[in-house]
Amino acid sequence: MEQRENFSGKLGFVLACLGSAIGLGNIWMFPWRLAEFGGAAFLIPYFICIYTLGVTGLMGEFGFGRSKRAGALKGIQEVFKEKNLPFGRIVGLIPTLAVAGTLIFYTIVVGWVLRYLFASFQGAFNTVDIPSYFNNFAGTTQSIGWHFLAIIFTVSVVAFGVSKGIERINKIIMPALFVIFVILLFRSLTLDGAVLGLKYLLIPDWSYLLKPITWIMALGQAFFTVSLNGAGMVVYGSYLKKDIDIKSSAIHVAIYDTLAALLAAFIIIPAVFAFGLDLNAGPSLLFITMPHIFGEMPFGYLFSIMFFVSIMFAAISSAINMLEAPVEAFLSQINTTRLRAVIIIASIAFIIGIPLDLSMDRFGAWADFITIYLAPLGSLITAIVFFWLYGANRARNDINIGGLSPVGSWFEPVAKYFYTFSVILVLVLGIIYNGIG
Ligand code: ALA
Repeated sequence: MEQRENFSGKLGFVLACLGSAIGLGNIWMFPWRLAEFGGAAFLIPYFICIYTLGVTGLMGEFGFGRSKRAGALKGIQEVFKEKNLPFGRIVGLIPTLAVAGTLIFYTIVVGWVLRYLFASFQGAFNTVDIPSYFNNFAGTTQSIGWHFLAIIFTVSVVAFGVSKGIERINKIIMPALFVIFVILLFRSLTLDGAVLGLKYLLIPDWSYLLKPITWIMALGQAFFTVSLNGAGMVVYGSYLKKDIDIKSSAIHVAIYDTLAALLAAFIIIPAVFAFGLDLNAGPSLLFITMPHIFGEMPFGYLFSIMFFVSIMFAAISSAINMLEAPVEAFLSQINTTRLRAVIIIASIAFIIGIPLDLSMDRFGAWADFITIYLAPLGSLITAIVFFWLYGANRARNDINIGGLSPVGSWFEPVAKYFYTFSVILVLVLGIIYNGIG
């Protein structure tokens, strides 16, 4: 057995977790939701959800990983064993499968981003018809090679392990992402007509606070954006030393993840308004609307490169966490080397992803299945195991180890009832609304 690694300190840990948290959810989902559900008014339910539920969930997942010195699979197995319950391995596998399932579709999108980064370097966006460019590429054999490249990039980080791979890369790309975002923000806000988008975002439409859908979307967003799937943050927590403050780390992750989402919104929406385009969510925003804007804006060549570099950083750092979770789970059950485990898991993920490369319908159905059913189920399992079976009181004590200002006893009912109930809501509402995360 290889010695278990650690993050070198709080900074490395928080940046790695931010790498996991900041991703497509911040870029292709949050700006659209902010605009669609009342502008600045949406921030109220969003802040409430992220700073109560998001932070509680993060503390729980970090604490669970650290107390067991294991990812979700082994951690859940151990709690089941302690309680003499059967099927620990099967139940424990679900959160890990949720993350692995996300890896499968996420790396396909990373591949599209790499393709668009290459196209930006070629200056393609002012010469091609962008909708057909995307449609002739995504959902066809052409995306397989880029998907493969995305897998290779992810593998080449995770293969180096926690401190030399995951921590090191995130320490570079996370700060770089914020620097690029600030430059893009400046570009976007100085476009003629950007003020229209700015007004749209900043003038709150309070009537949206009375609509349940606003709260439901804020809830789903909060869970997806900080990667609460029951395994991803558990595995990073398992590499945490005892002297690191979990509460403050969780709060920092939530704050900087929100900041990244807000920056993305203030980059994208004013630019979309300035060019009189329709705002939409998902792939078409990133791969059709934004390239169209870069094709027309002054110095668009340069800004499109920066934009797709920043998205690549955001998405690949999330994919790294999605690969690490199943790799750690594999290593917890089978005595082999990290390199072998990384290659085996990544190859399986790539092969399962190929049919999704070839059909956008299949891609969508897979992504929906994972984000609507499996990921919320994963969070629910981890929440029940840690806060109910292991016990909210022990959980709080474990979280408080190394903490400067300990989490009070209020945490126990909040984690046990309010958080667990909210995860059930995410699952049920996701099914009713066909996806909220
Ligand atoms: N939390 C990651 C995202 O927002 C998965 O995309």
